[in-house]
Parts: sequence; C-alpha cells; structure tokens
Amino acid sequence: MPVAGIDIGSLSTEVVILHEGKIAAAVILPTGASSKTAINRAMGQALLQSGFSLDALERIVATGYGRVSVPFAHEKVTEITCHGRGAHFLDPAVRTVIDIGGQDSKVICLNGQGKVVDFLMNEKCAAGTGRFLEVMCQALEVDLDDFSRLAGRTGKTVPISSMCTVFAESEVVSLIAEGYPREQIIRGIIDSIVERTELMANRIGIMGKLMMTGGVAKNQAVVQALQEKLGTKIEVPEEPQLVGALGAALLAQEEM
Ligand SMILES: Nc1ncnc2c1ncn2[C@@H]1O[C@H](COP(=O)(O)OP(=O)(O)OP(=O)(O)O)[C@@H](O)[C@H]1O
Ligand SMILES: [Mg+2]
Repeated sequence: MPVAGIDIGSLSTEVVILHEGKIAAAVILPTGASSKTAINRAMGQALLQSGFSLDALERIVATGYGRVSVPFAHEKVTEITCHGRGAHFLDPAVRTVIDIGGQDSKVICLNGQGKVVDFLMNEKCAAGTGRFLEVMCQALEVDLDDFSRLAGRTGKTVPISSMCTVFAESEVVSLIAEGYPREQIIRGIIDSIVERTELMANRIGIMGKLMMTGGVAKNQAVVQALQEKLGTKIEVPEEPQLVGALGAALLAQEEM
C-alpha cells in the first residue's frame, strides 16, 4: 500500500510517496506565500508522478513548520524525528545529522536504530540559516551557484562581525561600498554560518558518522568549510532537501 510524507518548510515543500519500500514519487517546490497552495501543488505533482490517487495513499505523515495546515495528514511529526529517520534510512551508520534549512538549524544525535537520542535547535533568528545566505546573495547581487563558485576563488576572508541578519546585511552593503572583493566577503559570510553551526555541534558533541540535510547542504562552499572546521567528513545525500519528507513517509510506512 502506498504511503506519503510531506514536509512543509519555511522556504520549500517536499512530498515523497513510498510504495513497496521504494520511492514512487519525489517533489520539491517553493513554499511561497501560501503553504496551503504549496501543499496541494506538491501533492498533486507527486500523485501524477506515482500514478496513485490521494485516496489510495494508506497513510500520510506531515512534518515541517507548516505541518499543522495539511488537511489530509493522518499524523504530524516533528522535523527532528523525520530528518533523523530519513538520514538513518539513507545510511544506517550515521549518528549525527546537521539540518540547515531556510529559517532554522538543528543538530540531531541518533542511536544505531535511527532513534533521536539528543538534539539542539536554533530557531530564534535567521542568522546561520539558508535565509541568511539568500539575503546576503541579494546584497552581493549573486545567485547561490555563483556564491559557492566565488568562495573557491580566494583564501582571504573579510570577517562579518554582526550576529544578526539585518545588521549583517547592512555590514555587507558597506563592505561592498568600501571596495572589498565579493569573494572575500562571501568567505566572511560562510565563516559566520560555519561558526554558528560549530558552536551547536560542539555543545551537543558529534558522534560517529555525520550527515548534512536541508537545502544548505546543497551549498558546496558551506559544506566544504564546515568539514574543515569540524575536522570530519560530511556525507551529503543526493537530494538533501527530501530527507525530512522521506523520513515522514518511512514513519507512515512503519505505522501500517
Ligand atoms: N541549489 C542550491 N544551492 C545552494 N543552496 C541551496 C540550493 N537550494 C536551496 N539552497 C539553500 O537551502 C535553503 C532552503 O533550505 P530548505 O529547503 O531545507 O528549507 P526549509 O525546509 O523550507 O526551511 P525550514 O526547515 O527552516 O523551515 C535556501 O535558503 C538556500 O540557502
Ligand atoms: Mg526543513
């Protein structure tokens, strides 16, 4: 019987449909202004991909900050549990998961069965998240791909001292006006996000194999810098944004 997981994040919405233990559909869409519209659109596309009707889905588990607004969900589960479950499925050796999404970041510790044994979450401010990176890209007039590419062009860093996204944005605008090369400012932005993540990782303590999930795992410059800072290899799944929805679908399957 097919089941589905749906993850409604602040910036992206994902649906994964599982059938007989295999992924029958996987969709990633921007959440946009209306999470309701995003949910319907993402589920519509996933149903089309899989060939199933909504009624055919035996169980649907929703996660993400918008999980409360999924009308057809049978159950709502936290992102912590879902990212942990998804990461464990992709690699059972993983014991620590770092999820950096649009508006929050988390470090999750798992046991050998993929159960969450501890976690830390920063949801107080956008600094150190994907949204922070997007605001900085706008200020620098580069897209996310250029951001990673430009970061690789220099070893020099202009430190960003502001801890808050709003102040950091005006600091970046001033640095551009003062003529600092964009590459060096980008390295400063990466350092700031990496240092925040390292603080969380050190507080909780990294155990065993480390996997990064969430959209920021697609930012190669951030992953590279974080690997160097933590002194350990970071595994990035093929589609890090799908891990929460995959975990939700796996939980739906297990409950059957
Ligand atoms: N192709 C890409 N290259 C680089 N970075 C990317 C790419 N796609 C997404 N991102 C980053 O991922 C972030 C969004 O991550 P994600 O989709 O996991 O957020 P979310 O789940 O909606 O947020 P949250 O879980 O905090 O509510 C973007 O802000 C951006 O920084
Ligand atoms: Mg998310």
